[in-house]
Amino acid sequence: MNHSFFFTPFSPTVNLFIATFFLLAKKSSCTDPQFLACDPKSCGDQKIIFPFHIQNAQDEYCGYPGFAISCNEKNKTVLSLSNNKYIIQEIDYQNQSLRLSNAVLESTSDFNINEDRFRLPTTRTGLFFFYNCNSTLLGNDSKLLKHKFDCFGESANVSTVAMLDDDPLLGSASEKCGAGVVAPVDVHRGEKVSIGKMLERGFVLNWVASNCSECEESGGRCGFNITTYHFKCFCPDRPHSRSCKSGEYFLFFSCLEILSFG
Ligand SMILES: *[C@@H]1O[C@H](CO)[C@@H](O)[C@H](O)[C@H]1NC(C)=O
Ligand SMILES: *[C@@H]1O[C@H](CO)[C@@H](O)[C@H](O)[C@H]1NC(C)=O
Ligand SMILES: *[C@@H]1O[C@H](CO)[C@@H](O)[C@H](O)[C@H]1NC(C)=O
Ligand SMILES: *[C@@H]1O[C@H](CO)[C@@H](O)[C@H](O)[C@H]1NC(C)=O
Ligand SMILES: *[C@@H]1O[C@H](CO)[C@@H](O)[C@H](O)[C@H]1NC(C)=O
Ligand SMILES: *[C@@H]1O[C@H](CO)[C@@H](O)[C@H](O)[C@H]1NC(C)=O
Ligand SMILES: *[C@@H]1O[C@H](CO)[C@@H](O)[C@H](O)[C@H]1NC(C)=O
Repeated sequence: MNHSFFFTPFSPTVNLFIATFFLLAKKSSCTDPQFLACDPKSCGDQKIIFPFHIQNAQDEYCGYPGFAISCNEKNKTVLSLSNNKYIIQEIDYQNQSLRLSNAVLESTSDFNINEDRFRLPTTRTGLFFFYNCNSTLLGNDSKLLKHKFDCFGESANVSTVAMLDDDPLLGSASEKCGAGVVAPVDVHRGEKVSIGKMLERGFVLNWVASNCSECEESGGRCGFNITTYHFKCFCPDRPHSRSCKSGEYFLFFSCLEILSFG
């Protein structure tokens, strides 16, 4: 760049114009790197923003601790909870809720949310799956036979039965079967829904994390500083504590500073 250009005698109006132009040009070049890094990503047709972040695709500070998700090879969003993996079918950022489909048939451990970042809504019911039920014993029990649930790849000698957690047959099922697992489903007591339908529908979890809407509405992208353990609102100029609307002057000064030394 030709520096002598600035010393050419211009009228004050033209000088002002040049200064303004320069400031605007500098403004875009000092966009906060964390704001840029927390650009919304998608997995399949799902938009991924705070409190979630896609592992290995977004920086950890773009999400809330414990809300790391992954995007599998089929473009499905996967959430790991208590060592089980669930497919996220739907994320509702407004309600702070997500619908998960059960991965229980691939898992051998109990469903158990002992993590305080998620809450189960009250419509939830436990759906018990008993594996390794002795088919011979089951064949003698016409009531239990009605709960037989066909699982893929089972041998003729063993079967699976499924029932809700208030079923009077729970006791007799546990006698005739091996270990059971319990999966949460959204069923109202007394509602007539097939097991297959319940699993397909999945269940809804509400999440507990900082509310992002104020920051987002102000043009920012939410994030979290794990060191200070504080919510951050990443704005084009710099990280703010809650929303981009506070401390606008900082942008002006920091850019001005870069200008005068750069
Ligand atoms: C997943 O999404 C990516 C990016 O949109 C796309 O390139 C890829 O083909 C998708 N894969 C599948 C299996 O749909
Ligand atoms: C979110 O709330 C709206 C309005 O209350 C409701 O219609 C919608 O079903 C809710 N979504 C989820 C996933 O709970
Ligand atoms: C099922 O139970 C019967 C009667 O108790 C027993 O003879 C049989 O070995 C059992 N089968 C399996 C697969 O455990
Ligand atoms: C199952 O029923 C058959 C005939 O109804 C009976 O002979 C057999 O003892 C029963 N088996 C068990 C394990 O109850
Ligand atoms: C089923 O049980 C019978 C008799 O108990 C046994 O001969 C057979 O090998 C078993 N089949 C499988 C697939 O386990
Ligand atoms: C988040 O905050 C906005 C306004 O600040 C409010 O309208 C919204 O209901 C809040 N969302 C939740 C889930 O609390
Ligand atoms: C978190 O805050 C500390 C202290 O203010 C700062 O040094 C660090 O760069 C911040 N980290 C992120 C990812 O913002």
